[in-house]
Amino acid sequence: MLGAFERLAPAEMTFEHFERMGDLPHFNPDLDNGTALPNEAAEWRRAVGAADVMLISTPEYAHGLPGSFKNALDWLVSDPAFAGKCIVILSAARGSTWAQESLREVLRTMSARIIEDASVSLPLGSNKVDVESILAQDDLRTILHRSIQALQSEFNKPDLLQS
Ligand SMILES: Cc1cc2nc3c(=O)[nH]c(=O)nc-3n(C[C@H](O)[C@H](O)[C@H](O)COP(=O)(O)O)c2cc1C
Repeated sequence: MLGAFERLAPAEMTFEHFERMGDLPHFNPDLDNGTALPNEAAEWRRAVGAADVMLISTPEYAHGLPGSFKNALDWLVSDPAFAGKCIVILSAARGSTWAQESLREVLRTMSARIIEDASVSLPLGSNKVDVESILAQDDLRTILHRSIQALQSEFNKPDLLQS
């Protein structure tokens, strides 16, 4: 879903993928300060802080968010730059209702700004999909286009433009 979103996005939307979530140490508030902050956590904060929007898609494990992803979010909780971060959530319209609700609750608690008009649910029908098979389906392309347009219109609002 993330890959299909990226392929359909206009050239002025650029994407950075954070591939090292698995390298983050487990969150420890005692290390959550300027001098002791682990390098991986600092790098994660830098990547998120540099982005205008965080695009999220997550599986659900045992009716919850994946522990690794919640851990990554925990490293952002006390980052002042995260408050007000614009978030777009792409979800699969099958299962994972607990994780979606939990994700929204966590993000709200972290004072993130979920862009609901751009956060869409795709009726994939199967786990056996890839970027090409998503892009081959008109209904899925339409939903992703709607999400991209909603995101663009959010950023045309003067109060969201970067200073
Ligand atoms: C250990 C484990 C627990 C899972 N628990 C749930 C669950 O509670 N709810 C759900 O909708 N999917 C659950 N899934 C499915 C995953 O969210 C996800 O759809 C699946 O792992 C992706 O499938 P793939 O291997 O075909 O990519 C679980 C998968 C695994 C491996």
